[in-house]
Amino acid sequence: MSTQQQHWDNLYNSNAEDEVSWFQPYPKISMEFVELFNLPLSANIIDIGGGDSYFVDALLKKGYQNIWVLDISANAIERAKKRLGKKEGKVHWIVSDVTEFDPPVQFDFWHDRAAFHFFTTEDKIYNYVSIAEDAIKKDGYLIVWHIFRERSQQL
Ligand SMILES: C[S@@+](CC[C@H](N)C(=O)[O-])C[C@H]1O[C@@H](n2cnc3c(N)ncnc32)[C@H](O)[C@@H]1O
Repeated sequence: MSTQQQHWDNLYNSNAEDEVSWFQPYPKISMEFVELFNLPLSANIIDIGGGDSYFVDALLKKGYQNIWVLDISANAIERAKKRLGKKEGKVHWIVSDVTEFDPPVQFDFWHDRAAFHFFTTEDKIYNYVSIAEDAIKKDGYLIVWHIFRERSQQL
């Protein structure tokens, strides 16, 4: 297990979902993107570094059928699966470092809320960008965004 993986697994192990600074009970901005892009319910949507975010719950509720959640932390993924109960079977779960991800399909929407900014070395950033470039359909969407802006807007 990598140090990074250990770090995130420990973090999810020792904090309840609402004890982390990025917790949001409803992913309002992410869902606004989904609406804006007018994605069909069959769209392949991936949440990169999705952790135990409620984005997947909101997408399922809207009827999306091809949802993918990728995270380096198995603990985060387990927590999200547990929360979803039977519905977890409707989601493709991937425990992986995104910079080592080999996407099995191309995506209509690559969503990253607060994962990309953890990549601070040139090789990690390069890997991320080239994987995303190949993994997103020609007319697909990529959104990478940062939570601090959102938090300050909420104040
Ligand atoms: C700040 S949290 C945001 C979680 C989620 N996107 C949300 O909005 O609630 C960052 C997430 O990125 C994940 N992460 C960090 N480095 C990663 C990597 N190299 N590959 C995949 N996921 C990673 C962490 O495990 C964590 O769940």
